[in-house]
Amino acid sequence: MKILKPTPQNIAKCSKVIQCGGLVAFPTETVYGLGANALNLKSVAKIFEVKQRPVFDPLIIHVANKKMLQGLVKSVNPAMTRLIDCFWPGPLTIVMEKSDIVPDLVTAGMSTVAVRMPKHPVALALIRKAKIPLAAPSANLFNRTSPTEALAVQDQLDGKIDYVLDGGKCKIGVESTIVLIQGKTLFILRPGAITSEMLKKVFSGRVTSTTSSLHNLQPGGLQKHYSPQTISILADKKLNITEAVLEKKILKLKKKPRLGLVCFGRIRSQKIWDKVITLSETKDLNEAAANLFSTMRRMDRMGLDVIVFQPVPEKSIGIAIMDRIRKACFGNKL
Ligand code: TXA
Ligand code: MG
Repeated sequence: MKILKPTPQNIAKCSKVIQCGGLVAFPTETVYGLGANALNLKSVAKIFEVKQRPVFDPLIIHVANKKMLQGLVKSVNPAMTRLIDCFWPGPLTIVMEKSDIVPDLVTAGMSTVAVRMPKHPVALALIRKAKIPLAAPSANLFNRTSPTEALAVQDQLDGKIDYVLDGGKCKIGVESTIVLIQGKTLFILRPGAITSEMLKKVFSGRVTSTTSSLHNLQPGGLQKHYSPQTISILADKKLNITEAVLEKKILKLKKKPRLGLVCFGRIRSQKIWDKVITLSETKDLNEAAANLFSTMRRMDRMGLDVIVFQPVPEKSIGIAIMDRIRKACFGNKL
């Protein structure tokens, strides 16, 4: 795989790849995406093949302007228009009734399609140049961490696609907020950088993260997701874990386990940790989000037996961070 500088020539080259039915990885403000022509069934099928992604997990379509959106959906109601005017381009994905031109494979057979307009000049330039809406999941193998830099895409997808456009490190670092409006309720299907407080300011009805009243919806809904390959566990705030607990319940190791700690803020160095990485020394949640997936990958390369996560405060983008950490740790309870 070639990592390409996002020059106009390289963007033109990648847009040709897309037009010819191929795949290109590209930067967005959230995470890197693996893009293909959203309206071409064969191209979309390649995304599932490359990612080893189950076909019941639908894709997000990326557009560069409102006109592109209009072709993909049945209608855009006033509440949606308001969200679009306030948050696009940006990390908000809106689920809408799809038009007939969107292949069922994109939406996993659902009548709705998830659409967003990314806020990254390279992503927008690529979509504009290709003149095609891009179906693009995060550019990682299924169930693995979302890439937040071009090298992380290469690590996972080398040999499977030809190009990744290098836009540097993603500013936000966690995937977009996904919302669905039903009547007077806005459901947050996946938390992200657009928080419920921000949504409440522009949506006149109820805003909720409880989706139990919705049927047949599993967006990123798999409980295990976004995970490092090393066993990951969520500790409590005070990091009360003991090696005995770890050995007995999880590892069943004879030797002393090698432990990594992903913390928030600073901790006094303690002998039990073989490696400590902080998501943000100054307890800045935005910085923590931007560092989350790259930290998971760094920890994964250290030959540890367990990665322990310290929780972060569940406010603003902290909600999205904890959502991703819980998914990474699913099934491994202390
Ligand atoms: O920030 C992002 O959204 C990144 C960048 C590349 O744009 N993309 C991303 O895509 O996170 P992906 O495929 O990793 O996650 C898409 C999520 C899936 O979990 C899927 O279930 C949900 O969007 N989704 C897609 N279509 C949906 C629909 N019609 N209704 C509800 N959820 C949907
Ligand atoms: Mg993903």
